[in-house]
Amino acid sequence: MNIRNEAVLVTGASRGLGRELARSFARRGARVVLVARGAEELERAAREIRAEGGEAHALAFDVGEKEAVHRIAGAAAALVGPPSIVIHNASTLGPVPMPLLLDTECEDLERVLAVNLVGPFRLTKVLAGPMVLRKRGLFLFVSSDAALSAYARWGSYGVSKAAQDHLARSFAAELDPVRFFAVDPGEMDTKMHADAIPDADRASLARPVDVAERLVAIVARSGALPNGARLAAADFEPLGVHGGSGAAA
Ligand SMILES: NC(=O)c1ccc[n+]([C@@H]2O[C@H](COP(=O)([O-])OP(=O)(O)OC[C@H]3O[C@@H](n4cnc5c(N)ncnc54)[C@H](OP(=O)(O)O)[C@@H]3O)[C@@H](O)[C@H]2O)c1
Repeated sequence: MNIRNEAVLVTGASRGLGRELARSFARRGARVVLVARGAEELERAAREIRAEGGEAHALAFDVGEKEAVHRIAGAAAALVGPPSIVIHNASTLGPVPMPLLLDTECEDLERVLAVNLVGPFRLTKVLAGPMVLRKRGLFLFVSSDAALSAYARWGSYGVSKAAQDHLARSFAAELDPVRFFAVDPGEMDTKMHADAIPDADRASLARPVDVAERLVAIVARSGALPNGARLAAADFEPLGVHGGSGAAA
């Protein structure tokens, strides 16, 4: 899929993987809308992209809030046009340290599902319409190893990511040729990782900037991938400097 001149919306774009994704899309000529809750950190991320000559707009919203969804979609369309590439990257672990399932408050599970599953569902419902009409567009759901493997204390998060994967597959079955993918980014050196595993060896973790390049390569060559697929970022080489094919490793 072409990236230059496309309208791209990235949630969770104020830091970590989302910020690097927004920057990477903007460097390739996309018009990018960044969403996260913390306005100051988000605006800083957008400003950094503009300082590099890219187009970036900050929208401070909570994707877990029902009322936010139409406001995000409306503002994004006004700023850059209806998004044709949407990256569902914002995510929460719930309370940290993460409790065992039997110690998890139902309200905390509900909040994890609201941010990681229902928010992306609502946003997709609102943003998919123009893509269906134009018969083109792409949604990338940022998944996790925890969607497939069950780890003690990762229950709420894992359930939300497993459901999110299936949401992507189900949308693909219903809305083809609009494209839907779930992508496991692998372990990255971010705040989320530090919150979850504070004593991790940071040197063993991938840099978000490198993972972002692999995800952009997936978007660029998505036409060759089966709609609804669950992918691993580690299986994809970054695009070349001139935006080459980014063929799978
Ligand atoms: N780091 C890893 O090792 C790892 C491994 C597997 C999968 N992942 C996945 O990769 C994605 C990116 O994670 P990350 O490690 O880059 O996390 P991060 O550094 O903690 O960044 C999370 C981003 O999401 C935003 N966010 C959180 N809750 C939000 C909400 N309710 N509404 C809007 N924005 C919200 C945060 O900003 P605000 O707090 O200001 O809203 C921030 O911009 C997530 O989907 C995560 O599940 C990460």
